[in-house]
Amino acid sequence: MSPRAAGLPADLYGRPRPDRFIRGLTAFIDTSQRARLRAAGRRRIGLGLRPRRPASRVPVPPAVPASRELVVASRTALCDEVVSLRLATPDGSRLPRWLPGAHLRIELPSGRARHYSLCGDPRDTTSYTVAVRRIDGGGGGSAEIHDSVMPGTAVRAVGPRNGFPFAADPVVLFIAGGIGITPLLPMAREAAALGLTWRLVYAGRSRSCMPMLEEVSALGGEILADDETGVPSGADLVGRAPDGAAIYCCGPPAMLDGVRKAAAAAGTVRAFHFERFTAPPIVDGRAFEVELGRSGTVLAVPPDRSALDVLREHDPLVPYSCRQGFCGLCLQRVLRGEVDHRDLRLTDTERADGAMLVCVSRGAEGSRVVLDL
Ligand code: FES
Repeated sequence: MSPRAAGLPADLYGRPRPDRFIRGLTAFIDTSQRARLRAAGRRRIGLGLRPRRPASRVPVPPAVPASRELVVASRTALCDEVVSLRLATPDGSRLPRWLPGAHLRIELPSGRARHYSLCGDPRDTTSYTVAVRRIDGGGGGSAEIHDSVMPGTAVRAVGPRNGFPFAADPVVLFIAGGIGITPLLPMAREAAALGLTWRLVYAGRSRSCMPMLEEVSALGGEILADDETGVPSGADLVGRAPDGAAIYCCGPPAMLDGVRKAAAAAGTVRAFHFERFTAPPIVDGRAFEVELGRSGTVLAVPPDRSALDVLREHDPLVPYSCRQGFCGLCLQRVLRGEVDHRDLRLTDTERADGAMLVCVSRGAEGSRVVLDL
């Protein structure tokens, strides 16, 4: 059921189709953030907003914020499977400020690029902090960080950008699952600083693999470890929301789905915003083919797999990062074929010019999409 059909306001991610409403909503939230910060007497700061892209007749990767070299200033093991990296400029120069929910794209020495939420203090202009959970069997980015990114390692960083902005709603429930605590902890700190009515619930498998427990406890957040109290249901979590609360949720797909359904059923949730840290499930997938235009190789994309996964099986160097249709890194150029665009990034002009984000977008059932690849 779509959020709209479920009676919920449109969310920021996870919609099967982008539309003007979602872009307008994001712009409205960004504007609200500026107004709120001005009202709070703060100096205007770099917001890391999604930039407006000029119309182009040639499909090129979307514009990205500033890119800079950073070095790992320190590395800390936060718990089983999670390390944090504090990144600073090589010459100690200042970094742009950011707002809660912002993320950084980190390009690793291997060439892999991954997005990580900033989880330090937004007022700290001397460094950025990210936390990375090791995922064995994934694309190798987190394993590379755990195995070989050490103090002194240089990485390229793009951003910060904010695709999960906090609108400082007057009543808020933050729901974090595992490493999903990273964008929500700065939001909760912000809510506390602004004197909002808020609660933070942090769930995970076991305390031994839940980072930032001390920070959550210090803020007064509630910790739910599965091995102590069982796996909370969506209704359990949403039941902690005061009437009229906006919910911000970041966690694994099962948690997001459960919270979303429970929020719709409750009928008292004012807004539901969420961020995934894994690829969303494929909704209404149909089988199609991709043809590599330069070699003529044809690859079958089954209903339950993305074109990106199939392409990477053929060539592991096909680039990607977010797998959710917002970073633009997996952009390919379409030579022929009709595309069912499901991303949240490309403009109509870019689509008309043949750009396709292969992590989420698909061909029509039984059709063939020929890529300039
Ligand atoms: S991997 Fe980010 S848009 Fe496809």
